Amino acid sequence: MTRASAPAKVILFGEHAVVHGQPAIAVPFPALRAYVEIRGDAAALEFRSHSGALLAAPQLPQKSDPLLLQMLLTILRGLAIDAPRVSIHLRSEIPQACGFGSGAAVATALTRALACHARLSIDASRLNDIVFETESIFHGTPGGIDNAVVVHERALCFTKGKDPSRVRIGRPFDLLVADSGDRCATHIPVTAVRRQLQVNPGRTTAILADIGAIVEQALEVLAGDLPFALGPLMYRNHDLLGKLGVSSPVLDRLVCAAGCAGAAGAKLSGAGRGGNVIALVDESCSAEVALALQEAGAKQIWSTTIQARG
Ligand code: MEV
Repeated sequence: MTRASAPAKVILFGEHAVVHGQPAIAVPFPALRAYVEIRGDAAALEFRSHSGALLAAPQLPQKSDPLLLQMLLTILRGLAIDAPRVSIHLRSEIPQACGFGSGAAVATALTRALACHARLSIDASRLNDIVFETESIFHGTPGGIDNAVVVHERALCFTKGKDPSRVRIGRPFDLLVADSGDRCATHIPVTAVRRQLQVNPGRTTAILADIGAIVEQALEVLAGDLPFALGPLMYRNHDLLGKLGVSSPVLDRLVCAAGCAGAAGAKLSGAGRGGNVIALVDESCSAEVALALQEAGAKQIWSTTIQARG
């Protein structure tokens, strides 16, 4: 049996602006992972859910989820292999359309498992290229940050067209990640921002540049030993995302609740209009912020520590 997995991700700063050439910072979110298992021989390639339901099979296009079938075919083409006659099973803990990079994680785990089954060694850069191509199926014009963080499984600063760079983290810090319960496919807010750029280029470009400047400041703070100084940058980034029209009343309520309960900072993370909010906390306020998020409607809350790294 061949097994592979990949983590979820959360964006700390710079979502949406990254699609338009600004930098963004993201970290892996190891509390949630996607797992793929190649279980054994089958009459033809079949991709199934954990419970056995058919997700995609090249021989049965009419019974396949069209996007997952395209993902599977893109991966086979990227690896330059024929469809093996095996049964592949997916178990993903990552909610979809929630800002956690679920599509990138599934594609990464699937590519790793298929490469391993075919006894191909595949380096991170090629894996990243293949997963980026699958991201285009779901998002149209992905920025590239989701696949980069999920594939490399470390904190990265990403600017379109450049190699991702490692983010130095001087001191560990804790985040609460709250699922709003609302779902929105990434391409919807991404398209809305693109439209705004056409309708109101001056204002929108200025907002995107302000977000880029926040990312640069956040890189400096992250490298130092006062991670709580990220807090005001998070609130400012959230406000700017609101001005871009990608927040929502529920996300704003969660950010406000976190702030009132003592979080040093909070913002939506990912594409927005739903999905998740991250809040910067420490031991003194973590439980209170979690309670406030719950009372403000969060459906699930995770705690994660971003470890120091050189
Ligand atoms: C989605 O996780 C992040 C966005 O910036 C889109 C992208 O970069 O592909 C909204």
